[in-house]
Amino acid sequence: MTTTIVFSDAPLGHEVRGLRLDDPADAPKLHDALTAHGVVYVRGQSITPADHVALTRRMGEIAVFSTKNYSHPAHPEIFVVSNIVENGRPIGMADAGEDWHSDGCYTETPPWASIMHALEVPQQAGASLGNTCFASMAAAFDALPAALQTRIDGLQAVNSYASRARQAAARMSSGDALGGDSKNIDELLTERSEALKQWPDVVHPLVRRHPFSGRRSLYVSPTHTIRILGLPDDEAADLLDQLMAHVAQPAFIYRHAWQPGDVLLWDNAQTTHKAIFDYKLPQRRLMHRTTIQGSRPV
Ligand code: SIN
Repeated sequence: MTTTIVFSDAPLGHEVRGLRLDDPADAPKLHDALTAHGVVYVRGQSITPADHVALTRRMGEIAVFSTKNYSHPAHPEIFVVSNIVENGRPIGMADAGEDWHSDGCYTETPPWASIMHALEVPQQAGASLGNTCFASMAAAFDALPAALQTRIDGLQAVNSYASRARQAAARMSSGDALGGDSKNIDELLTERSEALKQWPDVVHPLVRRHPFSGRRSLYVSPTHTIRILGLPDDEAADLLDQLMAHVAQPAFIYRHAWQPGDVLLWDNAQTTHKAIFDYKLPQRRLMHRTTIQGSRPV
């Protein structure tokens, strides 16, 4: 079977056709496509959770990366992202990916890549809601003026899980709950207390080298990156705002309109993403996500 890539108009977010996700011989092709393009997807896959885990293992070392409350009951390697409530309990995390971020940027060794399988996608008037936007941090870095590239390459920044958890909790308790959840800040922080202990603040480069290609990418998140070492707080905040405004330009962004059966892979070492919350129950969204272990960003 010949593998072809159908390119989007963006620097990332291309469809891969003509490969089998269950064929070990095709895993290197997918790995190469992901490294080259940052976000790739395959449509029309009716894979089971076990198939999803097996595919992830063929792509690298699987990382169990979820808060316990939202793991798949039979496959803890799968993180359930969903607004569905069953028997009074959310079956997945309803507010995952609310702001631009790279998965696990607040851990010592963040996952290299994530693989998401769409099971249920909210619809309205024939259009799918709950899209995910991806930005190429490599293309964004390349497009910066050379003087700014030189200024920021080598800077180290503090990334914080606690910062994002507090912001999410504040939004939920203000009644702006995604997925119909309405807990107060203390309840939410208690629910995420294990994760808060597991993930103290970490220091990572503001510009990282890709583990396979060596390509440089910005490594910054508006909700997780809280400081830049060696810079006064106001200067760091201005620089972070400037970089995020640059990243958020349409030229670097691909917006994925999910279809049930999509399997989409993103490379956390060269992209950032955020989910769009333009749906509410009874419009249901159910996604399964696995992650592939990465190395310490350099
Ligand atoms: C995530 O950030 O992993 C969730 C993305 C999404 O649900 O679209």
